[in-house]
Amino acid sequence: MERIAVLTSGGDAPGMNAAIRAVVRTGLDQGWEVWGVRHGYTGLIAGDLIPLGARDVGGIIQQGGTVLGSARCPEFETEAGRMMALRMLAEHDIEAVVIIGGNGSQAGAHALSQMGCPVVGVASTIDNDLYGSEITIGVDTALDIALEAIDRLKVTASSHHRAFLIEVMGRECGYLALMSGIAGGAEAVVIPEVETDPEVVAADLRAAYERGKAHGIVVVAEGARYNAEGLAAYFQEHHERLGFDLRVTTLGHVQRGGAPGAFDRLLATRLGAAATRHLAQGEHGILVGLLKGEIKPTPLSEVVANKKPLDLELVQLARVLAE
Ligand code: F6P
Repeated sequence: MERIAVLTSGGDAPGMNAAIRAVVRTGLDQGWEVWGVRHGYTGLIAGDLIPLGARDVGGIIQQGGTVLGSARCPEFETEAGRMMALRMLAEHDIEAVVIIGGNGSQAGAHALSQMGCPVVGVASTIDNDLYGSEITIGVDTALDIALEAIDRLKVTASSHHRAFLIEVMGRECGYLALMSGIAGGAEAVVIPEVETDPEVVAADLRAAYERGKAHGIVVVAEGARYNAEGLAAYFQEHHERLGFDLRVTTLGHVQRGGAPGAFDRLLATRLGAAATRHLAQGEHGILVGLLKGEIKPTPLSEVVANKKPLDLELVQLARVLAE
């Protein structure tokens, strides 16, 4: 093999740059040329590729985001878009691609692989909802950002005896909400995986005050049926009966923009290096992820066919710890 490409796709995640750097430098170490695709699958379809040297990826390991740029690309979901992507790879003499991203990106990686292109996926999404990796690039840093916000909100909540609703990211998965709720000492956690009645949230907050707490913190996942907007509207509508003054903070993309911490830099570096190692061994059509503490491959066919379950025992633990 002489030339490979690397791309980042979907929502950016802190640590993506560390993964790019690792792919480039370990690829160069194999004696290959490494090209970067700009703006994910959109750039691939447009043929927006640039050669990367070791110096081009210098000074990026500590940066959030992705120096290659990323995109959500509906065109890549079409046969025509994928055919165009393959044509661009052939035109640039690219023999294999490393695709850094989450569920949508790995579905694209699987499709490319089915069309005969050697592909290795690298598990990266702050949502931590990707099968094939117990923890994905960006989760740890995103959690730290959420926790910093929760800790600060708890301080002002305690000063005023107020209740706060904090919405974290997670379109279909409550991992960030549940873990930041547990680590931040929330009184209630609302996630998409568990149908939650707003009356139960109100009862939990009331009970917390009755037990002598000075604050009420509810962490909500954006994808929950009652997300921050829904819960706030419900509490407002029933304000007199519930008797709560509820403030809302939506963290949103703040969680994605942080500089990667040590865990994410190391995970991303190990995954990026594993991706080129597998390619060098002629192995592709796989995702590299962290399983039982080790970097392991999982066939992309398995990754796209399975959903990663959330450990619902932790939901119960969050309730107990809120005592
Ligand atoms: O998949 C990562 C994620 O941050 C989700 O938590 C969130 O729902 C989504 O991306 C937001 O996507 P976008 O940045 O395209 O608005």
